[in-house]
Amino acid sequence: MSGKKTFIVEHLDPELGPWSELEYIAIAKESQATNTAFILSSLPDGFRVPTTLQDVEAFTAEKRGVEELYAGKKEKVCLLDPAAAKDLCPEDGEAFEAFLFGGILGDDPPRDRTSELRKKGFEGRRLGPKQMTTDTAVRVTRMVVQDKIALDKVSYTDFPELKFSQHESTEMPFRYVADKDGNPIMPEASS
Ligand SMILES: C[S@@+](CC[C@H](N)C(=O)[O-])C[C@H]1O[C@@H](n2cnc3c(N)ncnc32)[C@H](O)[C@@H]1O
Repeated sequence: MSGKKTFIVEHLDPELGPWSELEYIAIAKESQATNTAFILSSLPDGFRVPTTLQDVEAFTAEKRGVEELYAGKKEKVCLLDPAAAKDLCPEDGEAFEAFLFGGILGDDPPRDRTSELRKKGFEGRRLGPKQMTTDTAVRVTRMVVQDKIALDKVSYTDFPELKFSQHESTEMPFRYVADKDGNPIMPEASS
């Protein structure tokens, strides 16, 4: 099953906050660049899909939830779940067609809202022990199942400090993929 992969983010918040929007735009652009598909599912009535997302060919906005979208082929969907017993591995790219994520902003301590998706009974895989942002979780999954990089061979940076000014900074309590200079890959702020 090494055909085109689909990344599904089941939107679990009633609205779309500005930071989630930037994360979704980052996922859409990377899906486009890597010939994969990105579905933002379970969108409530009246949900305003930003044009920056609509303009990306790889992106689909869906009112239906993942259970309806994959009715009768549940075994093809892998839920990325911080509480799963097994870690994701490159071979999972052959076993699954779609990878499912919680459309939730990261929180500290984690509130385990992924449990809302776990209840639906999809096979789960963990991306290691540290909480990632949703766009990072999709990025790492893509690297493992498409680029066949083992989870422990991905370059990470944990809990980076973001500096806003000389005196103001904050520690981000998440794991990110590191770029070639060791900096965390984060969504680009919109211009
Ligand atoms: C920001 S995380 C949300 C974690 C959160 N604190 C919760 O309530 O579950 C968003 C999504 O990224 C994925 N994710 C993040 N870190 C993960 C990990 N270490 N293993 C598996 N999935 C992860 C999950 O699909 C999760 O629902």
